[in-house]
Amino acid sequence: MAAEQSTVTVIAIDGPSGAGKGTLCRRLASRLGYHYLDSGALYRLLGLAAQRRGIDFANHAALQVLAEHMDIQFKTEHDRVVVLLEGEDVSRELRTEQTGALASLVAVVPAVREALLQRQRDFARPPGLIADGRDMGTVVFSDAPLKIYLTASAQERAARRHKELLEKGENVSLAALVEQVSARDERDMNRDASPLRPAADAVQIDTSDLSIEEVMQSVLSILSLKNMA
Ligand code: C5P
Repeated sequence: MAAEQSTVTVIAIDGPSGAGKGTLCRRLASRLGYHYLDSGALYRLLGLAAQRRGIDFANHAALQVLAEHMDIQFKTEHDRVVVLLEGEDVSRELRTEQTGALASLVAVVPAVREALLQRQRDFARPPGLIADGRDMGTVVFSDAPLKIYLTASAQERAARRHKELLEKGENVSLAALVEQVSARDERDMNRDASPLRPAADAVQIDTSDLSIEEVMQSVLSILSLKNMA
């Protein structure tokens, strides 16, 4: 592996979209006072930046340069994370299903993943990091002392996403979402570069029938068993 992994305590949390990683990660980070890496946001930002610049997604060299140099910032304002791309607030556009699809297209490119590796590792600062993504436990933080793999049925994940979008005022049909979520899973699980899969030493939790509080409780019990909290 090209770059050094960090000596900071990292909790790697992976799984498909809608499994509940984002909520769990934010709560854990706040509970433990750890930093939070939303690695999906980096892929989303790259997809958006590439589309805005009219870069052909088949042009891997151009995507790689953009991944290395894109100007991004994460700022917390009144408990809300504001994401800036070249100084512009793109927080809202970042969360749409269309941007998720762009992200999963750039994410298949090995040179992009390599370029984002160090940018992701740079988020690991004391006292610790909650790393949220698809390959946190298998690649980016493969030395992490705790790896969790969250899953849920595709139907349940699409239903959660549907509720979330409705709350934001976006009207997308549930059937269309089931299709989009499944297409994204398919691409994420079957790509050659860092496909989505649980690390051999990951604890797997199926969240289909669990509330966020229940998921949080199971993770906290694991942390306490490992003397990490
Ligand atoms: O987690 P989120 O839905 O924001 O991720 C968007 C897309 O970015 C994923 O569907 C996946 O293709 C890609 N991704 C990735 N590796 C990560 C995080 C996200 O390939 N660590």
